Amino acid sequence: MARMSGKVAVITGGANGLGKASALRFTEEDAKGIVIADMLEDAGLETVSMIEDAGGKAIFVNLDAVNRVNNQEMVEAAVTEFGSIDVLVTAAGITHQDYLSGDREAEVKMAIKRAQEIENPAQQFVDGSLEEWQKVIDVNLTGTYFALQAAASAMIEQGKGGSIITLASIAAKHPDAGPTPYVVSKAGVWMLTKKAARELAPENIRVNAIGPGFIETHMTTIFEIAPPERVEETLKSVPMGRRGLPIEIANTALFLASDESSYMTGEILHPDGGYFTD
Ligand SMILES: NC(=O)c1ccc[n+]([C@@H]2O[C@H](COP(=O)([O-])OP(=O)(O)OC[C@H]3O[C@@H](n4cnc5c(N)ncnc54)[C@H](O)[C@@H]3O)[C@@H](O)[C@H]2O)c1
Repeated sequence: MARMSGKVAVITGGANGLGKASALRFTEEDAKGIVIADMLEDAGLETVSMIEDAGGKAIFVNLDAVNRVNNQEMVEAAVTEFGSIDVLVTAAGITHQDYLSGDREAEVKMAIKRAQEIENPAQQFVDGSLEEWQKVIDVNLTGTYFALQAAASAMIEQGKGGSIITLASIAAKHPDAGPTPYVVSKAGVWMLTKKAARELAPENIRVNAIGPGFIETHMTTIFEIAPPERVEETLKSVPMGRRGLPIEIANTALFLASDESSYMTGEILHPDGGYFTD
């Protein structure tokens, strides 16, 4: 039997990157249905088409991760369209206030700002704005909380458990892996994952995190625009010496979504090329 047979998955941030790769991998393993929930409709509909071309079933739902009602609606859509929700992957996320997945220009601007900030880390720390802090914490942490609440509520009602997978990061444990609001939001996602795992275990709902290293998605466009010596310097922290591929995270998500990880909850897995070996 395929590893996702009979399972319905809801994937936030499923229009691009790691969420999209997970959706396509779940489809290969015969997922019963997939809800792609994202703020980017065109990209989300494209993911839906790719799933259908691969023989799967999917729908797109508009989601602003910070909107609690949107999160409830995306779960309701799964139940209405496919009969249940068995798996949730929370891949919606941003690195900074102006992050728009696929907007290369915004990343070029950010790369210039970062290069200046690196010159004076203490100053950039004290100058950090409330808007920046709030937006990143809202989308990455509060958005994840809302998605977990909505999915867990439906899973409890169904009474057959489920698997929830959050996207944390190496930044959950290492302060060098991103700007201040980002690393703090990911540390929060990791604690939220552990807390949810404990509270939801009696309902047979497993909650685990993935803490990827640097992976080739829009989120790491900076690797393509930063000076080669900066990229080389960053990759020194990765013993395998390269960015990971989205499929390498999707395979981790598949393991956590499937019954192969049936005795695992409150865990974080780090597909990171060896980042945490030091
Ligand atoms: N790529 C990496 O190197 C890396 C490493 C560690 C963790 N992560 C985490 O993995 C997750 C996925 O990132 P990715 O690399 O696939 O980036 P991505 O930009 O390719 O995908 C992120 C998706 O989230 C969606 N999104 C953003 N804000 C949203 C909102 N408010 N409401 C709904 N959807 C929203 C975007 O539209 C996009 O489709 C993020 O949480 C990110 O922090 C990524």
